[in-house]
Amino acid sequence: MRVGCPKEIKNHEYRVGLTPGSVREYVAHGHEVIIETKAGAGIGAEDDAYRAAGAKIAATAKDVFEKSDMIVKVKEPQPSEWAQLRDGQILYTYLHLAPDPEQTRGLLNSGVTAVAYETVTDERGGLPLLAPMSEVAGRLAIQAGATSLQKANGGRGILLGGVPGVLPAKVTVIGGGVVGLHAARMATGLGADVSILDRSIPRLRQLDDLFAGRVHTRFSTIDALEEEVFSADLVIGAVLIPGAAAPKLVTREMLSGMKKGAVIVDVAIDQGGCFETSHATTHSDPTYEVDGIVHYCVANMPGAVPITSAQALNNATLFYGLQLADRGLKAIAEDRHLRAGLNVHKGRVTNKAVAEALGYENHAPEAVLKIA
Ligand SMILES: NC(=O)c1ccc[n+]([C@@H]2O[C@H](COP(=O)([O-])OP(=O)(O)OC[C@H]3O[C@@H](n4cnc5c(N)ncnc54)[C@H](O)[C@@H]3O)[C@@H](O)[C@H]2O)c1
Repeated sequence: MRVGCPKEIKNHEYRVGLTPGSVREYVAHGHEVIIETKAGAGIGAEDDAYRAAGAKIAATAKDVFEKSDMIVKVKEPQPSEWAQLRDGQILYTYLHLAPDPEQTRGLLNSGVTAVAYETVTDERGGLPLLAPMSEVAGRLAIQAGATSLQKANGGRGILLGGVPGVLPAKVTVIGGGVVGLHAARMATGLGADVSILDRSIPRLRQLDDLFAGRVHTRFSTIDALEEEVFSADLVIGAVLIPGAAAPKLVTREMLSGMKKGAVIVDVAIDQGGCFETSHATTHSDPTYEVDGIVHYCVANMPGAVPITSAQALNNATLFYGLQLADRGLKAIAEDRHLRAGLNVHKGRVTNKAVAEALGYENHAPEAVLKIA
């Protein structure tokens, strides 16, 4: 198969769908790999490193889209990219379609077969291609929150860990999945007082065991949420209902109960956000203020640390990417975890949560791929 990787064009997105190390693996499987020139510049991987790994370098994104049977990317395609996708081509990338009707329409019109990293599953019911970026975003959320809490940045002016004789800041993490775990790990590491809320009791048990008393775990009711949000200096939004838009757990009205200068980092913004007042921001202008509360809502947080993120992402995507390149649609048809990743195929929505969120008819992947 011809596998293509264009340079990412979203604001401050420096990651790359294929590192030179991944290219070498595709080439070893007998595939031809086409990389847009400078696609790896943001992680310090120059065209020569790709050539050495066996790739051909294309001068433009147009070349990559035209010549490739499969496109491997990082972020959801932008409008200029939808226009270049076509029927018979496989797109393998993050999509986050549920809160994005325009992109969904663009992909449906193109006829492309789109496998979304964020809905591919694993044997343990996890989301293995979302997990590494969630690890990065969770860890980064505390760095971003700590910086935003500084007075000059609009925050309350409190140090997460305090100092001897002065209480630490209080950090509330809503959603104790991968983002939540890694945020809590960084926050406790810095000495903050940390609470995690979740709706899953088994998950709360796991977290309680893991942190051995270093975090407070709470079942997420409206009461518990209000108490924890009102007393927090920093709130991390980390809930997920796979494939669906994030539930708006913190309303605008609730902001008035929070401390002035408290900070919200809404990591779930890529699924629409779990604060009513959240809207997506970029790395060049990451925060804004509503009712005295600083909001940090960068939709592509891992893009800030592309060397770490691109490597972690490639580690996770390589296995299924090779399956797709080796066996095409057959790989999707025969593997239930890849089928879970199929969001759009030949003008049809094939993911239940996306179909429900955007009012499309849902088509089971099994039916559109015509397997028993
Ligand atoms: N902004 C970014 O750059 C970025 C990067 C990575 C991930 N994300 C997003 O972060 C979010 C979290 O990802 P994750 O990998 O941690 O997901 P996850 O599935 O591992 O965890 C989500 C957790 O939310 C919990 N939850 C669901 N409803 C809840 C509720 N009402 N109250 C409390 N908890 C609830 C679930 O039980 C689960 O434990 C996702 O939206 C993901 O797309 C964003």
